[in-house]
Amino acid sequence: ESEISRLYHGLLLPRIAHTDESLQFLENFQVKDDDVFAITYPKSGTTWMQELLPPLLNGGDLTSIQTVPNWDRVPWLEETRAPLVLDTMSSPRPIVSHMPCHLMPATLFKSKAKVIYITRNPKDVAVSSFYFHKMASFLDDPGTFEEFIDKFLAGNVVFGKWTDHVKSWRNPELGDRILYITYEEMLEDLRSVLSRMLTFLGREISAEALDHVVSSGTFKNMKNNKMSNYSLVPEDLMDKKKSPFLRKGISGDWKNHFSPELDAKFTAVIQEEMKETNIRFPWD
Ligand code: PPS
Repeated sequence: ESEISRLYHGLLLPRIAHTDESLQFLENFQVKDDDVFAITYPKSGTTWMQELLPPLLNGGDLTSIQTVPNWDRVPWLEETRAPLVLDTMSSPRPIVSHMPCHLMPATLFKSKAKVIYITRNPKDVAVSSFYFHKMASFLDDPGTFEEFIDKFLAGNVVFGKWTDHVKSWRNPELGDRILYITYEEMLEDLRSVLSRMLTFLGREISAEALDHVVSSGTFKNMKNNKMSNYSLVPEDLMDKKKSPFLRKGISGDWKNHFSPELDAKFTAVIQEEMKETNIRFPWD
């Protein structure tokens, strides 16, 4: 723990947005059957889902994308704004969370709510997270890149180990209520991922509306959208001169940061921790 991060059931969380009250709200949250959760380990596509889910759920209306900041449009279940926002939202409610599966509210498992789990290549997650730690004053100083990678692999970072998070969300209790997508698939063919999401959610929008969702969800357009690019957050919390929040939006930036030795070490640790699972990713 530090002045900046706290522990919750063994998990490090940023103090700024995770209070005893907000975590109690999370625990007692009454999930509705038509709630839709997008779950991510941090830096895996959360903001992107906050851009895409509202129009998919409301017939293609882009108004909220243009008028409501991403954190109030699709709130984090565990954060301090959740109690303020969730009660005012009309159903179906899109909600994001970075929590591992076992720390979700018990009512999720009794409900029919659907869950979309987004995974991103952990090497790119680590790079994105490193820059985010540099620019965000509410996260601990990352140290050098090599030092940060050691903390990342040890799970000594907010929301814990990447492998624990990914494994936790393979919970068979969720049956066919969970859809797995990757950040890389979204980069490659967003339209087809959105079609899969619509089918999974049992929703339809017109082909033209879908075109608009694809267009508003491009990296370039999101970077220009002040409701999604974090320009509304003051510089003392996020120093966008150090790194923009929407930084590069590509896959494979890890190749510009990992030495061959660091890459070998990272790969070995992740492979060891994933070997007893049947989870395989395109980047493995
Ligand atoms: S957070 O802090 O957990 O909410 O961050 P999160 O939104 O999950 O992840 C941020 C990274 O996602 C990238 N991003 C995108 N990439 C491509 N296309 C679109 N539309 C897009 N929107 C967000 C964002 O740029 C961060 O990745 P990096 O690699 O740092 O650029």
